[in-house]
Amino acid sequence: MNEKYTYIIGNWKMNKTIAEARSFVSALAVTHLPDSTYAGLAVPYTMIAAAAEAARGSSILIGAQDVSAQVSGAYTSEISCSLAIDAGAAFSLIGHSERRQYHKETDAIVNNKLKTLLATHLQAVVCIGESAEERQQNRTEVVLKQQILNALQGVTAEQFHKIALAYEPLWAIGTGLSATPEQAQSVHHFCRTVVASKWGDVRANKLLILYGGSVKADNAKELLLKPDIDGLLVGGASLEIEEFNKILHSKSENIAS
Ligand code: PGA
Repeated sequence: MNEKYTYIIGNWKMNKTIAEARSFVSALAVTHLPDSTYAGLAVPYTMIAAAAEAARGSSILIGAQDVSAQVSGAYTSEISCSLAIDAGAAFSLIGHSERRQYHKETDAIVNNKLKTLLATHLQAVVCIGESAEERQQNRTEVVLKQQILNALQGVTAEQFHKIALAYEPLWAIGTGLSATPEQAQSVHHFCRTVVASKWGDVRANKLLILYGGSVKADNAKELLLKPDIDGLLVGGASLEIEEFNKILHSKSENIAS
């Protein structure tokens, strides 16, 4: 991933049909995107192939929402990195809070997934974030430090170019209550210092850190103007093409259609 660019990734979660994915991505593919912006869509597995086909020739990256920590074999219902790549995925989210919450994924599991993923061509978007309770108890930094060090344990400095972090406070996901740009900036800056202390300033400064949690067209620009916010991970607002397109253009002056 290129640190000079802004990455805006939609996370469709468990939404849309193959036909809807095809028409959404086809329409987005012929839209003029700002030169310095990369658009990504983390789609359900069933539509990776159709979305990747529709995105061919454009700069839109199609990704998975999760991958297995296993390489292959008898793991019913799991999707390995190579299966995701075979379908057309260029990246995968891992450690999303809904996986942690509903499937009991721990930092150790996220770390296993990351190590498996780093052995392939996929890029990783590692999701981290604190709960409302942890924030109230002033434990945000402690929690995030632990999540970063555990989830990235064993990662070498050379592997960092394949990794982005996504800071998604749990209290902001799907609630309409986004972190303020100042709150997000302060956490992103903190995450960078954690990475710098373990992997060095050069890697930390190049690391892409995306913000996610109730991002919409009307708060995207303010978030992106903060120096440590390199992109956005967008859930609900990525399901409507007009809204997602506005978010993709929010940092540039020209709102093209
Ligand atoms: P949201 O979801 O934008 O709907 O809050 C973000 C996410 O879960 O990635």
